[in-house]
Amino acid sequence: MKISTSFLSCKNLEKGIKELNFTDTDYIHVDFIDGKFVVGKTIPFRKLKKIPKLSSKRLDVHLMTDKLDKYIKKFSILNCEYITFHVEATKQVEKYISMIHSYGIKCGLAINPSTSIEEVIPYLDMVDLVLVMSVVPGYGGQSFIEETTNKLLELKKYIQKEKLDIIINVDGGINNETIGKVKDYVDMVVSGSYITNSSNYQEKIDTLR
Ligand code: DX5
Ligand code: ZN
Repeated sequence: MKISTSFLSCKNLEKGIKELNFTDTDYIHVDFIDGKFVVGKTIPFRKLKKIPKLSSKRLDVHLMTDKLDKYIKKFSILNCEYITFHVEATKQVEKYISMIHSYGIKCGLAINPSTSIEEVIPYLDMVDLVLVMSVVPGYGGQSFIEETTNKLLELKKYIQKEKLDIIINVDGGINNETIGKVKDYVDMVVSGSYITNSSNYQEKIDTLR
């Protein structure tokens, strides 16, 4: 299972990113919230674009915006392994999957807690990752929504049945207790405040692994 660390709850972005260099986190999860499509804690692109100067870790970008042309282009110049956008953000899902792939970056599709997996099923053979939100996007430090476990199980069964080459990622409220509710179904987890609110990031990452 891969770990992607979100720093949305960090008070000091630069310090948090530098601290992650001393851990074995697989990715840095970069939450981009535009304040309109999703209301919440916004960190402007001009700050986020500095991350590759502070870390050589690959980025797992989570776009919470419907301005996809603009932001896919902007993030594509960073050290991205994945760019994930929300299925709820556009009717032109295929267009943006192709756009992300055209930059040689893997594409993820995110679904909100209130969205059913039927919404992403038509695109699963085109994307590399599904990001199942286990909180309403906007802020770090929220509680894991329990129904997520059923959604993950349903999704995993479908992916196995169709033999799809795609990974499942889960985002929101992941800590040493909730990890047990997702670990059998996912290939990657995003964890933020559980890791970055501690004084020993690696110790928290170890408990998740
Ligand atoms: C929520 C973000 C999450 C969040 C994760 O909008 O997409 O990535 O920051 O943080 P925790 O683990 O604190 O829920
Ligand atoms: Zn996220």
